[in-house]
Amino acid sequence: MTITQQHELEGLQAIGRIVANTMQAMAKAIEPGMTTQELDDIGRSLLDRDGALSAPQATYDFPGATCISINEEIAHGIPGNRVIKPGDLVNIDVSASKDGYFADTGATFRAAQVHPTLDKLCRDGKRAMQIGIAQVGSDKPLAGIGKAIGQFATDRGYTLIRNLASHGVGRALHEYPEEIATWPNRSERRRITKGLVLTVEPFLSTGGLWANQGDDGWTLYADPSAPVVQYEHTVVATDRGALIVTLPG
Ligand code: CO
Ligand code: CO
Repeated sequence: MTITQQHELEGLQAIGRIVANTMQAMAKAIEPGMTTQELDDIGRSLLDRDGALSAPQATYDFPGATCISINEEIAHGIPGNRVIKPGDLVNIDVSASKDGYFADTGATFRAAQVHPTLDKLCRDGKRAMQIGIAQVGSDKPLAGIGKAIGQFATDRGYTLIRNLASHGVGRALHEYPEEIATWPNRSERRRITKGLVLTVEPFLSTGGLWANQGDDGWTLYADPSAPVVQYEHTVVATDRGALIVTLPG
């Protein structure tokens, strides 16, 4: 969507706060020994409490309130009986709607202590997202996001998953301008219009290049197999740069 009025921004910020708070509460609850179903139950009850509806469930009939992906699972993991172990990377992605507004946020968390290389991957994954967000603003080239993230990844010897794009959001979970590359894409000529609402969500990896769907029809795995992290905010393009709406508060 494109924000043109204050009440639209307020509606978007309200659901942005809800998904951010939900994700943070789930992250705090992560304990080795618990199942991803138990973690999702926490997320579902918080969305319920705040009057929000799970977007993947409502939009795509996803079998869970939130997506929880562990280690080799990189996105769209289905909550279930998998037990979280110490050293696991746990990606939580929360998207939901309220009063017709949609917001989407995600992050990779560490269960207890993880290997130092994974620790670094998490820190750099967050930086990759921030570098992408810094390229968002009225009339800036849409390709600037992927160009900057691509440079960051290359400089540090990382790879980016090249078929999991960022996207427009706001009045639906996925909408105009549809897919936004978080990797260099020379054929992208569009510009970011004032008020545009979009996600920035690079998938940074130590070798993965593509996401492949597993047998359950949802879970995505890296090819070649390698650790992957994802950090995601929903932002609004303004004359003064990106306004992040998925902030806890
Ligand atoms: Co998401
Ligand atoms: Co998204």
